[in-house]
This record gives sequence, C-alpha cells and structure tokens, in this order.
Amino acid sequence: MTDLCNMNGTIVPQAEAKVSVLDRGFLFGDSIYEVTRTRNGTLFAWPEHLERLHHSAAGIELDLRTEISDSELTGRIIETLRAANNKESYVRVIVTRGPGSAPNIDVQYATGPVTCVVMVRDLPPAAVTRARVVVVQRLRNDRRALDPAIKSGNYLNNVLGLKEATSRGATDCLFMNNDGRLTEASTSNAWIIKGDQIITPALSAGLLAGVTRRLLFAMCEEQGIPCLECDLYDNDLREADGIFLTSTLRDISPVDSLDEQPTTPCALLEDLVGRFRSYCDHLADKVYKPGIAGML
Ligand code: PDD
Repeated sequence: MTDLCNMNGTIVPQAEAKVSVLDRGFLFGDSIYEVTRTRNGTLFAWPEHLERLHHSAAGIELDLRTEISDSELTGRIIETLRAANNKESYVRVIVTRGPGSAPNIDVQYATGPVTCVVMVRDLPPAAVTRARVVVVQRLRNDRRALDPAIKSGNYLNNVLGLKEATSRGATDCLFMNNDGRLTEASTSNAWIIKGDQIITPALSAGLLAGVTRRLLFAMCEEQGIPCLECDLYDNDLREADGIFLTSTLRDISPVDSLDEQPTTPCALLEDLVGRFRSYCDHLADKVYKPGIAGML
C-alpha cells in the first residue's frame, strides 16, 4: 500500500509533497476540492465529481478549464492510481488559486498558475459505518456567504461543528441554518425516513449537492422507492423513523443516536444500506469502469 501525491503532474511520495507558504490555498483556503475513491478497483463516479469540481471552480470564479483540461486531470488521477497500486484508494483532488506574489487576499496578487494536487491513499476495506449525531449550536454557512454548495478548501466551520459534536461524545454534527432548517453533517448529507418515504433537505437550505445523495435518488427512482427533497426542521428529526448520513466514503451510515438519545431501529434503513452498496458495486462495474476509458 502506497500513499502518493501528483503535484502539478509529478508523482511523489505523500511525505515529500510540498506547497509554497505563499500558496493561496494554504493562506486563505482559496481552493476547491473533491473526494472520491475506487470501488472494485475502478475510479468511482468521477464524471459526477468532475462536474461538481467545475461547479465549485465557477463558484470561486476560477476558470479551471484554462488551467487544466478534464482529460489531463483524469489522466493524472489514473496515472497516480496505477503507480500506487493499492487494492482500493481514497482519491482527493485539490486545486488552489496557486501561489501569490505576497500574502495579500486581493486576487491581483494571485500570479498563479493554480496548484493541482491529486492525493491517492490506501483505502481500508469498507465497513458499514454507524453514526451518533448531535444538533450543534453552530450554524451551517449561509448560502449568501460562502455557499456550502461550493466544495471549497475552507472547512473551518465544519471543523468547529464536528469538534463541538465530538466534545459531546457524538461522531458527527447536524447543522441547522439560520431559518431553523436542517442542512447536513460535517462531511456528509443528512436524511430521514418517515413511513415509507426517504427525505433529505432541499439544496435551498444551504448544503453540498452530494454525489452519493444524487446516486441514492437515482437508485430510489429506478427501484420505485419514494424519495424526496423538502425542508426539514428540528421536530422532523425528533419524529423520524430513521436517520442516516451519506457520503462517498461511508455510503449510507445509519444514525444510532440523536442528541444522546438512541434512535429506534428502522428495517427500511437497514435494508437500504445493503441495497445501495449493491447498486454502487453495479455502477462501478457496469457504468464507471467502461466509462473511464472514454474519458482519457
Ligand atoms: N465530503 N456535505 C459535505 C459538507 C461534504 O464535505 C461531503 C463530502 C458531503 C457528501 O458528498 P459526497 O456524497 O459527494 O461525498 C456532503 C467528502 C467525503 C470529504 O470532504 O471528505
């Protein structure tokens, strides 16, 4: 197992990967990123992650395509995965606005070019992760501030929300927004089950459009499982039949307690975990594996 970084096109061991102290990602969080993984040895859901990377780039007014083409970026990922030769890998792509000529936030000091890092790390075999969540006092960032739909490198609000949760013995936080609507967890989307319905907050509450969220919607549509987006409030959480989180690294993570109170077991949720895993395995083999060849 090997942890490697592709630094602007050059592969080095992770321990030797360095960025400048004048890099705007380091100084200001002036960067965007994606996290994906391999599944059954295939780069998973990369078209969806690439689409979101471009959305994030547009959100920070960075013209990514003039800096690096999609095929160049995809090629760097594949090359780094091949060099690492892990059974399964974690893949993180970070693009910063690059080093500046001075530690000044004004973009006129951003002399560039962008810093583009592909981080490939060994990914231990996936176990079903379970979560204990608390609703934290800290709010999710407002959409009119740094929009949570932009996957920027500025995760300090999430760092502090998670810290608040772990100090209360939980494994993750749930963030409300300024209107009292549920948004998401620190690095995953939040869902409830009510009766036979699977419900997640609408993007208008201020949250990241998760790729796993999108794939779960697609699976539910294909399999005739009622699945919808709507505004959710604190009482919806308390009255839910099940609560779960989704992300690339966890798939579906059932929530076992909310604010230190155990949640009631939910058969539909336990069934969904296995169903979604099989669906993702199928996508890896039948959709993403053949698709990746066409992207290079
Ligand atoms: N996190 N919400 C936030 C704030 C996230 O950071 C993430 C992803 C998600 C879920 O998105 P997806 O299904 O595309 O993984 C939701 C990644 C895993 C991370 O930052 O490590």
